[in-house]
Amino acid sequence: MASLLHDPNVSHVSVPNQKSTTPRSTSFEVETVSTVPMQSNRSGESVVRSSSMSSSKDGVFLTWEDLWVTVPNGKSGSRSILGGVTGYARPGELLAIMGPSGCGKSTLLDTLAGRLGSNTRQSGDILINGHKQALAFGTSAYVTQDDTLMTTLTVREAVYYSAQLQLPDSMSKSEKKERADVTITEMGLQDAVNTRIGGWGAKGISGGQKRRVSICIEILTRPKLLFLDEPTSGLDSAASYYVMSRIARLDQKDGVGRTIIASIHQPSTEVFQLFNNLCLLSSGKTVYFGPASAANEFFASNGFPCPSLQNPSDHFLKTINKDFDMDLEKGLGGGAVPTEEAIHTLTKAYKSSGIFVQVQRQVAEICRQDCGAFEWKKSSHAGFVTQCLVLTKRSFVNMYRDLGYYWLRLAIYVALGVGLATAFYDIGFGSESIEARGALLMFVASFLTFMTIGGFPSFVEDMKIFERERLNGHYGTAAFVVGNTFSAVPYLLLISLIPGAITYFLPGLHKGAEHFLYFAVVLFTCMMLVESLMMIVASIVPNFLMGIIAGSGIQALMILGGGFFRLPGDLPRPFWKYPLYYVAFHKYAYQGLFKNEYEGLSFPNNVQAGGPATISGEQILRERWQMEIDYSKWVDLAILFGMVVLYRVVFLGMIKSNEKLKPIVRALLSVPSKKTTQVVVNPSVTPSATPLHGDQIQSQIQIRAQVPHVS
Ligand SMILES: Nc1ncnc2c1ncn2[C@@H]1O[C@H](COP(=O)(O)OP(=O)(O)OP(=O)(O)O)[C@@H](O)[C@H]1O
Ligand SMILES: [Mg+2]
Repeated sequence: MASLLHDPNVSHVSVPNQKSTTPRSTSFEVETVSTVPMQSNRSGESVVRSSSMSSSKDGVFLTWEDLWVTVPNGKSGSRSILGGVTGYARPGELLAIMGPSGCGKSTLLDTLAGRLGSNTRQSGDILINGHKQALAFGTSAYVTQDDTLMTTLTVREAVYYSAQLQLPDSMSKSEKKERADVTITEMGLQDAVNTRIGGWGAKGISGGQKRRVSICIEILTRPKLLFLDEPTSGLDSAASYYVMSRIARLDQKDGVGRTIIASIHQPSTEVFQLFNNLCLLSSGKTVYFGPASAANEFFASNGFPCPSLQNPSDHFLKTINKDFDMDLEKGLGGGAVPTEEAIHTLTKAYKSSGIFVQVQRQVAEICRQDCGAFEWKKSSHAGFVTQCLVLTKRSFVNMYRDLGYYWLRLAIYVALGVGLATAFYDIGFGSESIEARGALLMFVASFLTFMTIGGFPSFVEDMKIFERERLNGHYGTAAFVVGNTFSAVPYLLLISLIPGAITYFLPGLHKGAEHFLYFAVVLFTCMMLVESLMMIVASIVPNFLMGIIAGSGIQALMILGGGFFRLPGDLPRPFWKYPLYYVAFHKYAYQGLFKNEYEGLSFPNNVQAGGPATISGEQILRERWQMEIDYSKWVDLAILFGMVVLYRVVFLGMIKSNEKLKPIVRALLSVPSKKTTQVVVNPSVTPSATPLHGDQIQSQIQIRAQVPHVS
């Protein structure tokens, strides 16, 4: 790699040391010698970031070439969000992506991190160390634009649990704690450590503090490739500077070059000086990609000099933001040149500039280096058992503190239990109690378990956190399922025992501890089953409203086909009997509970209709309820348990296959680079869109010819 950095053919733009905080125009000269960009902060402390400084052999060289991202746009075709973006990011360097809101910054980061949504199509090459490599699940850290955090935890707990999950088992607990504390202090959160993060309904830490907690969690492991989407949003200019400088200085801890790509809205002059490279986007097109310090000169040389005493980044954004052109027309903006025209001039100037040629050369050069495929070390994570234990504990604490997860449900269940107990109080053993018992048990097996759906919104929040942590490779899906299952057990036991006892003993159901325990265990298992079912639903539908509707619909169908409202013999064969009756867990819950209740009891018979004076429970089960009494109630319970395991395995399988299938689907949907020019571009969105000039196509073809064949 040294040859790359000092290759006489590769010219570098020299960046003079900047000590002043006021913007000044930098000399834009192309040299053949690599110069270390050096910036200094207000106190004179130097912040050095350069690929030559750190050991780049361990680092990640990321290149992207002619990247297009399109989304369907009604019947008219597709709209391009990114239009032929080319660039690179190197170890030890901080690349800033800037541009007006909606220009495609997050899309570019998502594309590079391999996280584009399924409705998008992408084309172009993204190479890691010159190789086409999947970049997902723990291969990099990505601080997304939205903060997805566990709202019930305090700042310290959130970071500490994350440290336990992510850092290897070879580190002691105290070392992990120390790393968490150091990182919290680095992000200036020491005064908020014991404050809960808070969220919907409970105010906690501020938005800017949440941002910093998100960053803390992702930099704990000091990742080699770090994506940050708006890391400074919600922060004041001083906090922004400190946060960015600490991110930029991650290298200095262990001397390993880190590749950092951050999108940023409003960098102050000091923050701007921390950037090595700048990617300026407008409507998905590159207005500028090159050394941050040379951007001023680029704008000046193309007729848009930065006015003195103005922050250069403000100037760049003002020049290329066309969202408010209507105001300009009314004379409110005060600009001399319409923004559309300015963007067109700058994109054209950039494409024909030496900087663009240099970027292309740099990309080709990185691709040509045989750095070998990057090996992502998985062993540097906590082991499976540790992850399961930590996740169980974290989830237990979250369930304990989130009133809506179980406590509210417990209260409602107790209220319903009291309702059932009073409605069916002392049902006795008369002939009328035969029907009453059936109705009571049906209500317990259907509607009490149905209400488990109430915890779904909280589970969806858990899933969002899981998705973020999973994508960043904090832990595996199996550990999440284990953690979620075991942490829920104590609460579900409480819910099935307390309201269960009220519902069981006050009406006077079949006496005996074994009978009550069976009743409570079936209730517990059914609630677990509904939770498992909702987990599967959560992995399919995108939000909790749709999930609740879908989950309720599925359960209502199962209740209908369970063999109570329509006796098994009367169920229409297609669908209702085969397969629904056998698939619905309600069948096994009804049969188990009914057998538990009726077997061993006898009731007075309807003598007027003839026959013996009493009727046995077994007879009632067989004739009145049409139950399969040739096998024991324990078999029904075993089937219910088996279903819990099966549902959780299905959930695990769905997430795993989703992870495996997504890259394949994306690869199938992505257009090979050669077909780039066939991508339909909505001309109304990008009026200045000229996919590629002839000479640029030529130069790119040449570059591609140099790229080693990638697998
Ligand atoms: N999946 C999608 N489907 C349709 N349009 C999309 C999709 N993703 C992004 N867009 C559109 O692409 C444009 C760029 O979005 P993106 O989120 O990348 O902007 P941004 O530069 O990050 O903006 P901000 O600074 O406000 O975060 C927007 O106009 C957005 O509406
Ligand atoms: Mg964004």
